[in-house]
Amino acid sequence: MDRYVQQFLNRLSLASIIAATFILFVLFIRTPETCVNPNITKPKPHHRFPKSTCDFAHRSYTSIKKHNRRVWSTTAWIQTVVSFKSQFQTLQDKKLFTKHSRALVVSAGAGQAVMALKEMGLHDITGVEVVDSPPLVRRADPHSLPFFDNAFDLGFSAYLDRALFPDRYVAEMERTVRLGGACVVAVEECGGREVEEVVKLFRKSKVLGIRNVTMGDETRTRIVLRVMSD
Ligand SMILES: *[C@@H]1O[C@H](CO)[C@@H](O)[C@H](O)[C@H]1NC(C)=O
Ligand SMILES: *[C@@H]1O[C@H](CO)[C@@H](O)[C@H](O)[C@H]1NC(C)=O
Repeated sequence: MDRYVQQFLNRLSLASIIAATFILFVLFIRTPETCVNPNITKPKPHHRFPKSTCDFAHRSYTSIKKHNRRVWSTTAWIQTVVSFKSQFQTLQDKKLFTKHSRALVVSAGAGQAVMALKEMGLHDITGVEVVDSPPLVRRADPHSLPFFDNAFDLGFSAYLDRALFPDRYVAEMERTVRLGGACVVAVEECGGREVEEVVKLFRKSKVLGIRNVTMGDETRTRIVLRVMSD
């Protein structure tokens, strides 16, 4: 009697294996209609789904261009660029840089200051930020800039106060800006002792001027320095 039960169970599991294999095979050869419409030979971006979480192919250049067009036409963006431009104009008037200067913008955000310099006619501008924003800003760690010593004529940061390690951040600016070049930084509006603390971070530069200026929708304290020694 036990043998019959055993045989029956064996047959039952064999049948299950065959059935499962068949189902798997059917699922394998069938294209799920929900994913791909075979009539669309060249899928539009919104018909194409990422194959995996690592698939960034849908971030094509066209979509970045579209995204940028949208961002760059907002009032906030335009106002910020205009405020940076009027700032840079005062620096250019003081001959701190020219159209032919190589400019570095650290903590460039989405690239407002980079665009301002571009609109003023500079063509050698490098914007860096921990997150890139092509085509204006590339990704780099401000505490370890991937540039040679003395590579720039002008170093600019509107947000030195957001640096994790201000000492290291400033040292990198002073390293990459050439002797005689200018470092321009801004911090949250302050005066007296606080400004002195910021100035002290610069070991190789001399202060040329301190002013409270408008940047975007806030007033910040801007410090202009000249790099004096290697
Ligand atoms: C694809 O096209 C055929 C005829 O060309 C049509 O019968 C079918 O419904 C279409 N399929 C989809 C998913 O639109
Ligand atoms: C900037 O503003 C701060 C705070 O309002 C003030 O203490 C400081 O003196 C101002 N600095 C300059 C250079 O005007």
